[in-house]
Amino acid sequence: MKISVIGSGFVGLSTGVGFAKKENDVILVDNDREKVNKINDGVCPFYEPELEDELVEQLYLGKIKATDDLQYAVLNSDISFICVPTPFGKKGIDLSYIEKVSKDLGMVLKDKNAYHIVVVKSTVVPETTERIVLPLLERFSGKSFGNYFGLCVNPEFLREGSALNDFLNPDRIVIGGIDEKSIDALKRLYKNFNSPIIVTDWRTAEMIKYVSNAFLATKISFANEIGNICKKLDIDTYEVMDAVGLDHRICREFLNAGIGFGGSCFPKDLSALIVKSESLRYEPKLLKEVLEINKKQPLRMVELLKERLGDLKDKTVAVLGLSFKPNTSDIRDAPSLKIVDSLLKRGCKVKAYDPKAMDDFKKMFPNITYCRNPRDALNGSDACLILTEWDEFKSLRDTDFGVMKNRLIIEGRRVLKGVKGCEGICW
Ligand code: UDX
Repeated sequence: MKISVIGSGFVGLSTGVGFAKKENDVILVDNDREKVNKINDGVCPFYEPELEDELVEQLYLGKIKATDDLQYAVLNSDISFICVPTPFGKKGIDLSYIEKVSKDLGMVLKDKNAYHIVVVKSTVVPETTERIVLPLLERFSGKSFGNYFGLCVNPEFLREGSALNDFLNPDRIVIGGIDEKSIDALKRLYKNFNSPIIVTDWRTAEMIKYVSNAFLATKISFANEIGNICKKLDIDTYEVMDAVGLDHRICREFLNAGIGFGGSCFPKDLSALIVKSESLRYEPKLLKEVLEINKKQPLRMVELLKERLGDLKDKTVAVLGLSFKPNTSDIRDAPSLKIVDSLLKRGCKVKAYDPKAMDDFKKMFPNITYCRNPRDALNGSDACLILTEWDEFKSLRDTDFGVMKNRLIIEGRRVLKGVKGCEGICW
């Protein structure tokens, strides 16, 4: 099929490259000319394993290209996926990008004679498609839904660090729609994905995305609360969860205690769902508590450090890992931001190392020391905090920590094996 993808960020580019790999013809659209040039040169504008290699391959095969010309992209495709950001603004989810692209798409559809399908892939709170996207498309195209264009919701469940693989091997594909023609077209597009296809109405599809993320975030805050209790009882919470997770109703995934969730999705989506729920005059107490536990969890790392080290003033702390999880350079809402900030406020000297996230971290914390490798960070330090479970840290051995002034190692993520003088935030 001929597909255009509007917005070439993490979701848009992964989606576009994924559809190209599935033998569709893809046109990526972005209003950032520099990004468009990079993509056409085979350069992924952010770090995401495997995506760049596949982009290069699909460019070579002629299955994908990027442009800043929306009209060209829409007139030369049958389906447009909206993949623009929906950040969390002051009053809840910020839908300004969605509104803009709906208007722009409407104006292009005015001049298109053939039937076209618009698909909302961006994460939007329930009712957005029917109350915002549809009216804008109809108003600016001057055409009515159903006869001249179709409209579906098709949420993504991509994890950073494994986006392409997640796109190609989804647990389920959700298609929200109310007209057979566009639903059938999407079913055809996804028919060789070997994954269950769930068809719902628009708002149910929108809700499925939020509930998936809210439930995973709830599991993590639950695991952290249990971990905090286990720590006081000198119980290894991982041993507990290994046994608890064998119950198929519970499942072991996302029960790893640590410094909490970060990233571009969980905190933002949970906040948006809370605001939406409150606008409906329902107070989502559980969801609020999930966020609250998550806000406090990173700072427990600093409290533990203080308990073990006493006054933190002028102490040198090696921080290993800055990204919110491994295999990404993303530091959005990363626990490391709060931890480093708190260390600096207490007068610590911070020596940080991360394989991918240091450039972005430097923009927020220009005055800490950035190291070339873990050993440089550990050298002469009074303590070490491990904040991301990068593979590189898994291979650190007892002797690597010998260069520290004082052997105090606290893990915020469970990484090390057989290292003496090491304890975890919840274990
Ligand atoms: C998440 C969802 O998994 C994905 O489906 C959705 O589309 C976007 O949000 P992502 O943010 O990339 O993906 O990362 P994920 O692997 O889910 O981890 C999120 C955070 O939770 C990370 O900070 C991770 O370290 C943390 N986490 C995860 C835990 O603290 N414990 C766990 O057991 C699992």
